Amino acid sequence: MERKKFIIAVDGYSSCGKSSFAKAIAQRLGYLFIDSGAMYRAATLFFTRESHAKEGAADRDAIVNRLQEVNVEFRWNELTRHNDTCLNGENVEREIRESIVSSNVSAVSKIPEVREKMVTLQRKMGENGGIVMDGRDIGTVVFPDAEIKIFMTASPEIRAKRRYLELIEKKMEADLASVLRNITERDRIDESRAVSPLRKASDAIVLDNSYMTPEEQMIWFMDIYNQKSKDEGRD
Ligand code: DC
Repeated sequence: MERKKFIIAVDGYSSCGKSSFAKAIAQRLGYLFIDSGAMYRAATLFFTRESHAKEGAADRDAIVNRLQEVNVEFRWNELTRHNDTCLNGENVEREIRESIVSSNVSAVSKIPEVREKMVTLQRKMGENGGIVMDGRDIGTVVFPDAEIKIFMTASPEIRAKRRYLELIEKKMEADLASVLRNITERDRIDESRAVSPLRKASDAIVLDNSYMTPEEQMIWFMDIYNQKSKDEGRD
């Protein structure tokens, strides 16, 4: 049956503003926004606390053994008007952004069993459409039939600067050179992993936002959305 509302997949490199962009379009359309990276981060936090992930490496056997202990869900926060990520009932929205999690997350998320678990959860969240999900494999693996697929990119230096400023603003520890190193290293692992590597879907539209404001990105997106709605007879 045709969905009334679209599934919109936003994939791309680390720190190129995928979540801010996806959040903004979800708000504009009245769709649900899901940050799939937050789910991988929450699982990584669990395994970091249990010392099964450290210094950028992950103990696959231990992680697979304990994967059923990890429950990730989102809870609406009235104050911020966004979903908070919860790990086994604990609000971890802030902790999952810390650099220790950023350093371990690629190692944990390349484990096939971890991906399988997250993809199952993500498909369930999107089964009725009306969702904007951002990540690395949303248009290629999670929702290959998504009506709109966007692949975002920006230069590594610009991405590092944005991420650095974001951390400073949140009063979190930050150093520009190590943020840049972490970003390029995560890109490398995300692109080269065996299961669901970061790749542009053949039918995705590229958005290079290196020199675009959020308003320009919204105008760019609404053109695509309106055209798609017309093509599909859903406007
Ligand atoms: O979007 P982010 O930077 O918060 O994502 C954190 C990590 O999670 C990223 O380095 C790779 C992984 N990830 C993934 O493998 N697949 C996704 N769909 C989303 C994120």
